[in-house]
Amino acid sequence: MSQNATRRIHVIGIGAGSPAHVTAEAAEALAEVDVFLVADKGAVTDELVAVRQAICERFIAEDHPYEFVTVPDPRRGPDAERDAAQYSQGVRDWHAARTRAYVEVIEQLPDGAVVGFLVWGDPAFYDSTIRIVDAIREHLATSVRVVPGISAFQALAAAHGIVLHRIGEPVHVTTGRRLVQEWTRTQEAGIDLGTVVVMLDGQLHCRELAATHPDTVIHWGAYVGMPQQALRSGRLADVIDEIVDLRGRLREEHGWVMDVYALTPRG
Ligand SMILES: C[S@@+](CC[C@H](N)C(=O)[O-])C[C@H]1O[C@@H](n2cnc3c(N)ncnc32)[C@H](O)[C@@H]1O
Repeated sequence: MSQNATRRIHVIGIGAGSPAHVTAEAAEALAEVDVFLVADKGAVTDELVAVRQAICERFIAEDHPYEFVTVPDPRRGPDAERDAAQYSQGVRDWHAARTRAYVEVIEQLPDGAVVGFLVWGDPAFYDSTIRIVDAIREHLATSVRVVPGISAFQALAAAHGIVLHRIGEPVHVTTGRRLVQEWTRTQEAGIDLGTVVVMLDGQLHCRELAATHPDTVIHWGAYVGMPQQALRSGRLADVIDEIVDLRGRLREEHGWVMDVYALTPRG
């Protein structure tokens, strides 16, 4: 391990895509960063880097020099064809390759440099940056500061003007990949998950619940907080076809789409 402990890493939650989501604490941390590391994800990178650059231009004083370094993202295997164990192993291998790539870049930086990772939304939800930074610290001595951000599902709730859960009830946050199995198994076991928030669902798996749970209420949003924002809500069986269609059209129009939704069983 390098004994250079003077490098610092800031993991900064920047909110779900709107510069207005950047908190005062995030702005303060941004202003200390010398080098922002960004994973090169190919086609979507330009847009994601552009959002990050706009945030830096807005919140970092002109006399503070900083640069963006794009680190090639290692190729990730075909998740859809993998079972759960293969998927977890694939993600672990991918994280290890990513870690090596970052360590190589950080090692080249001068003593005292502050490295910034700008994390979409909040670093605590479905983001590997904190795990990768922990792994980086196994190779390089650095201190770490994590700054929370507004998560996509908080922005979704605000955009719809709703409280996510009924009074005193729970919220379950999960991925599209797990939704149907978790929903079905817990219902069969008589377990109440409360409102289920679904992220990372490129397939809108909630479609599969529309026939069996038509009265479930969905609050859906794409590009929440961004100029392209699209929102729909209603009884799942009534609105799901429109959402599927709209999502497809938006993806075609913009080249990418990020969406999140909340499902609340009719009480
Ligand atoms: C890799 S996860 C990152 C989550 C992020 N850390 C957060 O707290 O929002 C990406 C997922 O977040 C959701 N997401 C992020 N930004 C969004 C936005 N502006 N509008 C809708 N969904 C968004 C989508 O479900 C997307 O698949």
